[in-house]
Amino acid sequence: MTAIDPDRTIVLERPPQLHFGIGTIARVGAFAAARPVARTLVIAAPVIRDRVADMALPGDVAIFDQVVNEPDLALLTAARAFADDYQPELIIGFGGGSVMDLAKLVAVLLGRSTPVEAIIGAGKAPPRRVALAQVPTTAGTGSEAGPRALLTDDATGAKLAIESGHMMADIAVIDPQLAVTVPPLVTAETGIDALAHCVEAFTNLRAHPAIDLYAREGIGLIGRYLRRAVEHGGDLEARAGMALAALYGGYCLGPVNTTGGHAVAYPLSTQHGIGHGRANAIIFPHMLAYNAPATGERTREIVQLLRLGDAEEKVCAATSGFCADLGIAMQLTAHGIEPAHIPAMAAEAAGIRRLLDNNPRPMTERDIAAIYHAAL
Ligand SMILES: [Fe+2]
Repeated sequence: MTAIDPDRTIVLERPPQLHFGIGTIARVGAFAAARPVARTLVIAAPVIRDRVADMALPGDVAIFDQVVNEPDLALLTAARAFADDYQPELIIGFGGGSVMDLAKLVAVLLGRSTPVEAIIGAGKAPPRRVALAQVPTTAGTGSEAGPRALLTDDATGAKLAIESGHMMADIAVIDPQLAVTVPPLVTAETGIDALAHCVEAFTNLRAHPAIDLYAREGIGLIGRYLRRAVEHGGDLEARAGMALAALYGGYCLGPVNTTGGHAVAYPLSTQHGIGHGRANAIIFPHMLAYNAPATGERTREIVQLLRLGDAEEKVCAATSGFCADLGIAMQLTAHGIEPAHIPAMAAEAAGIRRLLDNNPRPMTERDIAAIYHAAL
């Protein structure tokens, strides 16, 4: 049990309706039918658009499926134009974190001329004029349960964070059946992203007992089920375990958020096009080891929850081996990153104060560069 600091305050925001379990996808249609909704816009990952019919949506349905990477300003502009032209009463995010983040942004900006630049940061997004449902199809971001979206600035490559209670879904439907066709490597990488959310909340300067319980449980679920989900994609128990872990990771993000781990991982994506889950996996073992002197018992607990025995004195090797066993290439050089790239990456990461300020151990630009060198 964690000691409680009575001066620490926290706000917990969740979707008012959350359905979890095999077959729950049809609940989306029931939600729409109860409104009633005549026009629904589904923002869908291209690989899953054939499953839109499983939602049993009433009325007219339009699908926007141009999301291939993490959303940027150009994609948001295209999605907003599509939505404003269609004028839906319900928007559904149906895919991974990129799709769900885009759905949040389109939902709050629907029918408005507000430039997205005006809502960057916390609490600036306007009230929604449309219902919002989130249906995750991978077990990673937990974006279905959170009030935050990330958007890439096409010009600078920087990640822009937008957070608002108005971006919280009215309903989240988590059907683990949807993930059975996710390929093994994507399962592994998105699963490590969920792990990073739990671990970074658990070792966060803003950690709170109300979130620690989800972080602990999420880490334990990943230790128990991630390898099974990677090796046997049709294992519904493992898929359900990972879906729950991702949801708990999402619970961690809203009120506590991530730390230096995500800050150090971001330049791998923004400067070198490495996917978010893979970037986090490569950095994760090094951050755990870097933070260990400041987190002590919590690092030991993480290692044990991952079922890595008593390897806490070799925390980097043990957790790197855990990721590598899932099929993830853990060296930066395997992804085209060379020593000459490190200064620019370290400079970008060192500027992400909103996350570095949460880190349990201070991080300078030099510390960050050392982590990249260790990960080469
Ligand atoms: Fe993440």
